[in-house]
Amino acid sequence: MNNIQSYIKEHKDRFLNELVELLKIPSVSADSAYKNDVLKTAEVIKTSLEKAGCDSVEICKTNGYPIVYGEKIINKSLPTVLVYGHYDVQPADPIELWDSPPYEPVIKKTDKHPEGAIFARGACDDKGQMYMHVKAMEFMTSTNQLPCNVKFMIEGEEEVGSANLATFVKNNQEKLKNDVILISDTGMIANDVPSITTGLRGLSYVEVEVTGPNRDLHSGLYGGAVANPINILTKMIASLHDENNHITIPGFYDNVEKLSKEERAEMAKAPFNLEHYKNALDIDAVYGEAGYTTNERNSIRPTLDVNGIWGGYIGEGAKTVIASKAYAKISMRLVPNQDWENITKLFKTHFEKIASKGIKVKVTPHHGGQGYVTPINSIGYQAASKAYQDTFGKTPIPQRSGGSIPIVALFEQELKSKTILMGFGLDSDAIHSPNEHFGIWNYLKGIETIPFFYKYFTELSKK
Ligand code: BES
Ligand code: MN
Ligand code: MN
Repeated sequence: MNNIQSYIKEHKDRFLNELVELLKIPSVSADSAYKNDVLKTAEVIKTSLEKAGCDSVEICKTNGYPIVYGEKIINKSLPTVLVYGHYDVQPADPIELWDSPPYEPVIKKTDKHPEGAIFARGACDDKGQMYMHVKAMEFMTSTNQLPCNVKFMIEGEEEVGSANLATFVKNNQEKLKNDVILISDTGMIANDVPSITTGLRGLSYVEVEVTGPNRDLHSGLYGGAVANPINILTKMIASLHDENNHITIPGFYDNVEKLSKEERAEMAKAPFNLEHYKNALDIDAVYGEAGYTTNERNSIRPTLDVNGIWGGYIGEGAKTVIASKAYAKISMRLVPNQDWENITKLFKTHFEKIASKGIKVKVTPHHGGQGYVTPINSIGYQAASKAYQDTFGKTPIPQRSGGSIPIVALFEQELKSKTILMGFGLDSDAIHSPNEHFGIWNYLKGIETIPFFYKYFTELSKK
């Protein structure tokens, strides 16, 4: 790629300012109070794609938030890259834990980002990473170096399960036809240890409700004589793991992919420092399934976690009460071959079965999705690997991530193409947490690396 570095140097301030403006709009898809902001963000993305050189850009209506679609087809006989990203963000709460307001971006230096990082909700997940693609496109079109066709599909409902995107994809197979899908919505190991994500976990998310007596009771008059839903719920939840931290739901592990010794040895080569890991989280020990390392526990193994639990009296002081109901939100991260709908069923059956007498249990499934693994011998992976070699000076390490982007498995199923996950964030960037940020170095490195992917993908496709 001719003069990408000088282009970035020349336009760096504008690239940053444009991202800052985008981050000022609170596009929280989960909370309808932000509806106008989410819609406005779609408009801003549309304009940015037009400016970056897309020939046609449209805002595609759905039953929820719109999908921004743009394309530049230079020659039908050339390969087509489909870029996916999301313009919605997670809610910012608990807002009091932010050091600066989540929608007033500020640049600050950190240990991991000595050149500065932008602090704002969505900085890394996914506005910053998505916008790298828009700026890479701008570079390629304005310097006449776009080597192939490009399609952009940027959605506004990723953080709430992408239900309407699934329908859009199913109904627009021809429009979305591509040779590879490119996504920057994951992370890498460290700025001096580039990695490419080769796997994502699936997800099953459920909510449970346990009901005891028909009303809240005096805990002295009735305590000990009726089932207390909170006592029972916590007991039921505790029983979902055994003493080795294996999940006890019958059939849960049936289809779990087993990695060979060699594959595990290969994985273990990725640099990881347990002391740094513990220090960063201020914990004195790690915890998890017996027989697996920390990196295995958070990538190739399925998990079950309570995300929230409530019920009874939580106000000031003490109230002596046995609540009528108790609730929990539970997520299960799944690995390839585990079917999320089947796991949801297994959970429901088991949870209803272990219910004690004297209570009723209701299990309500939320969203879910399949996991994903991508081979490293594909043209797409090889093109990405070569791109990183050029811009990082190192061969990237393939790494399976613990996070989920459920739509990726659907892309493969419906569009029959592989996804390449070129993520430039760091685990310490605090996505979904207070003080989310994205390194300026990472942002610019992404913009620099992406055009090389296009170049190598086009070249390798010709062979
Ligand atoms: N970008 C993340 C997923 C991610 C982050 C994958 C880092 C790998 C590394 C995405 O926006 C996300 O938050 N996904 C959700 C699932 C979704 C259905 C709400 C998740 O993983 O919890
Ligand atoms: Mn994301
Ligand atoms: Mn997210």
